[in-house]
Amino acid sequence: MLKGRNLIDPMDFSTEELEEVFNLAEKIIENPDKYSKIGEGKLLATLFFEPSTRTRFSFEAAMLRLGGKVLGFSDANSSSASKGESVADTIRVVGGYADVVAMRHPKEGAAKVASMYSEVPVINAGDGGHQHPTQTLTDLLTIRRKKGEFSNHTIGLCGDLKFGRTVHSLVKALSRYKNNKFVLISPEELKIPDYIKKEVLIKNNIEFVEVDRLEDVVDKLDILYMTRVQKERFFNEEDYLRLKDSYVLNEEKMKLAKKDMIILHPLPRVNEIAAEVDNDPRACYFQQTKYGMYARMALIAKLLGVCE
Ligand code: CP
Repeated sequence: MLKGRNLIDPMDFSTEELEEVFNLAEKIIENPDKYSKIGEGKLLATLFFEPSTRTRFSFEAAMLRLGGKVLGFSDANSSSASKGESVADTIRVVGGYADVVAMRHPKEGAAKVASMYSEVPVINAGDGGHQHPTQTLTDLLTIRRKKGEFSNHTIGLCGDLKFGRTVHSLVKALSRYKNNKFVLISPEELKIPDYIKKEVLIKNNIEFVEVDRLEDVVDKLDILYMTRVQKERFFNEEDYLRLKDSYVLNEEKMKLAKKDMIILHPLPRVNEIAAEVDNDPRACYFQQTKYGMYARMALIAKLLGVCE
């Protein structure tokens, strides 16, 4: 039963519950008209203390396409956070206005704190360099539609694995399915955090390898998840400038890849995927953004309890 629940971490839902969300998302994709009024009379609040294009717009589009309404802010400076109001107080107030809240915040753990003080479901729309569970719903729905299953894949994650919250959430989520192997491709300074390695991969006996060259491993991959180097999380610009162009996926490297490999990217992209790759049929990152809206429609409907 997902009605009234929060989604703060990708592991908050069991694999069976995720299946429920994806089954509904598929039904919405097949017949959107059937679901266009189920959210009537409901309000979604989007509290974005950090910039966003995809997540905020796809949440808002999702609610509007369900027949509901939205309110919120896209800049912390236009909210009373700029006067020093705490997340706990903000959520206690907004929870009295809205039926469900999607919140993005630069501080790790902020969404968890919000959920502890909220009387309505809270969805973590990204908390610092920590987790981004609805991006994971987006990624998993794309994998399901393109590959048919969540098991038996060799998944390459490339770029900023240290600060990339979408990577942390996706590794956690995919670690629950059988026979997946991870190839972690990053410079030494941007390796995946130890807690993911120890508490997720090693603890569950999941095969993984850490490498620093994409071209050495791209031919082994079923899924390549590219990521941007997260400028906003660096403490000094010099390090960012040194690392920002560590990887560029281009046509040359794609020649080495399997014919049925899929390329995902949470976006925004900076220059880690050359524009020449966009027309490659294996490039799924723009379709992925649209699946994100359907995944969020299904999630909102389930949390509100307006759909079986
Ligand atoms: N993928 C993602 O979170 O994009 P935005 O930062 O634009 O929301």
